[in-house]
Amino acid sequence: MPIYLDNAATSFPKPEQVYTAVLQTMQQVGASPGRGGYGSALDASRLLLAVREAVAGLVNCADSARVIFTHNATVALNMAVMGTLLPGDHVITTSMEHNSLLRPLCMLEKQGVDLTIVQADAQGLVDPALIRTALRPATRMIAVAHVSNVTGGIQDIVAIAAIAREAGALMLVDAAQSAGLQELDMQRIGIDLLAAPGHKGLLGPQGTGFLAVAPGVQLRPVMAGGTGSSSDQDQQPDGFPEGFEPGTHNLPGIAGLGAGIAFVQATGLEQIRMHEQELAEYARVRLQQLPGCCLYGPLQTDRRSGVVSFAVDGFDAATVAFLLDREHGIAVRAGLQCAPRAHRTIGSYPGGTVRLSPGWFTTRNDIQRFCDALISITRKGTS
Ligand SMILES: Cc1ncc(COP(=O)(O)O)c(C=O)c1O
Repeated sequence: MPIYLDNAATSFPKPEQVYTAVLQTMQQVGASPGRGGYGSALDASRLLLAVREAVAGLVNCADSARVIFTHNATVALNMAVMGTLLPGDHVITTSMEHNSLLRPLCMLEKQGVDLTIVQADAQGLVDPALIRTALRPATRMIAVAHVSNVTGGIQDIVAIAAIAREAGALMLVDAAQSAGLQELDMQRIGIDLLAAPGHKGLLGPQGTGFLAVAPGVQLRPVMAGGTGSSSDQDQQPDGFPEGFEPGTHNLPGIAGLGAGIAFVQATGLEQIRMHEQELAEYARVRLQQLPGCCLYGPLQTDRRSGVVSFAVDGFDAATVAFLLDREHGIAVRAGLQCAPRAHRTIGSYPGGTVRLSPGWFTTRNDIQRFCDALISITRKGTS
């Protein structure tokens, strides 16, 4: 049986309820929400609303109409920065960001937005005091990934959000690696914009994600098209949510996301997080015994999630991942994981790391097999 250890990219397998929800929506609903007054279109609208409310409940977004469905976290992050920042605005981010956030910010920089990238330490953690130091009168946003997809390091978003609040700046959280695993209470933490995929920790299908926007935050639509509303007007309506969801929804995917969220809530975020962390800690202990193995990320256990990144002296990360797959049927991610600056920060650039990321369905036996396979690869390599 192949072993899938790339849940940080997308979770697999999904709970049975997710497959059922996708199939039933395709077979039994079929229609598009907000596009007709007939029965199945109304069923589709009710389904969309129910999942929107489930997402709002999950992240404690005060107004469920301000949950915008997207195709992934990347689209949500693009909408968040392009829909709020203007030339002359200043935005602060960190050296640990995924290209999904960094590239849209660099694109905006070319258009006249000022960008400051605050350097994290060698463990990949950002000192909130450095973010405070980077503030300027024009700072309009602080944009940070909650959990690094490279190291699994957990940033202190509570402290960073407090700095944003004091400065009157928007707080954007990239929750790609934390949604479904870490508590995300927009109101308690003070998050203005929260971008997340539906297909990672929330166990929904690929092609799902969302942007949750706090009340009072002004967002401009960055895409235009049919919304099923205000159809007599040439201009894009900017009301939530439909102004931000032009075109046909991925309703089967959204239904699957709803089932994924229900599964996560019934199982318990804490339970899932502890399971993944325990497996990651077990892997770290075994990896530490491997000659020449270097583990990356925070030293403090409570600043780490279930993502483990490592490199073995004398072994190219891509080759290790290739051999794990070819010879042992084990799927892991190698290289820069779309976050080159994070690798520069932790000292693993340009070769990158091998990353394993267990999920809810990963067993201790899977991790044992992974460790045994790695030992066999490294022994062969040196013999
Ligand atoms: C930290 C982080 N941000 C953003 C993304 C992009 O997510 P998506 O693939 O859903 O666009 C990822 C995906 O790996 C990620 O790890």
